[in-house]
Amino acid sequence: MNNFNYIKNTYEINKMRIAGKIAAKVLEMIEPYILPGVSTNQLNDLCHNYIVNEKKAACATLNYCGFPKSICVSINEVVCHGIPNDEEKLKDGDILNIDVAIIKDGFYSDTSKMFIVGKTNKISKRLCDVAKQSLYLAIKTIKPGIKLNKLGKVIQKFVESNNFSVVRDYCGHGIGKNFHEPPQILHYDNDNCNYILKPGMIFTVEPMINIGKHDVYIANDGWTVKTKDNSLSAQYEHTLLVTNNGCEVLTLRSDDNIPKIINHY
Ligand code: MF3
Ligand code: CO
Ligand code: CO
Repeated sequence: MNNFNYIKNTYEINKMRIAGKIAAKVLEMIEPYILPGVSTNQLNDLCHNYIVNEKKAACATLNYCGFPKSICVSINEVVCHGIPNDEEKLKDGDILNIDVAIIKDGFYSDTSKMFIVGKTNKISKRLCDVAKQSLYLAIKTIKPGIKLNKLGKVIQKFVESNNFSVVRDYCGHGIGKNFHEPPQILHYDNDNCNYILKPGMIFTVEPMINIGKHDVYIANDGWTVKTKDNSLSAQYEHTLLVTNNGCEVLTLRSDDNIPKIINHY
């Protein structure tokens, strides 16, 4: 794990572009199935079949460190790593994160977004929106020469100015031929993140934000991460390439409100 230079070559970048498009498509495909009464396992099976049969790709979370399913579904106060199952059914007003990670031709891609079931309240909507905007702010900050720490700073400042909190215990990560590679991408200000971004780096940014306090715990199943104070949590994630003058969103969807390629001149 020590010989990572973090920089991908043109061949690797093109493979990551292909993988990114597949992961993004899964989140577009699943949208019409987000309805009251649908079980999280039904969502899992729809995504699994689409990834394997339509896209001829593999599900990165399936059997990853023992995780038993092909996607993570994290509802309401679940922060991340929710395990799809038959008993858990979507209800009107729920907010949920679906996190999709796939492997195509040996290269990984990882992305997630929030969905709202039917109609929900103002604060849930605002939480989802602040999570999305905090990711967009970080994306718009990415360019060669900046310190990695800058990303955590802009996310934390924006989230806390909206009176929400940033989860500390989970972070973004380099990604490529491995699901999780260095460097770690923290979503809060930390002086230890003084690495300087360079063109060719590929990593995820995936802020998790809570209405209440940032503290979380892992449930008895060993996976499901929940807020300690039971407050709602939201997360968005993209896989990103640092370009010569900005960044490219490898997992961009049609519902995203940012350009695929952001240039700073
Ligand atoms: N997709 C998650 C991430 O963003 C990792 C999920 S690992 C699992 O890094 F085992 F919980 F699926
Ligand atoms: Co990730
Ligand atoms: Co993910």
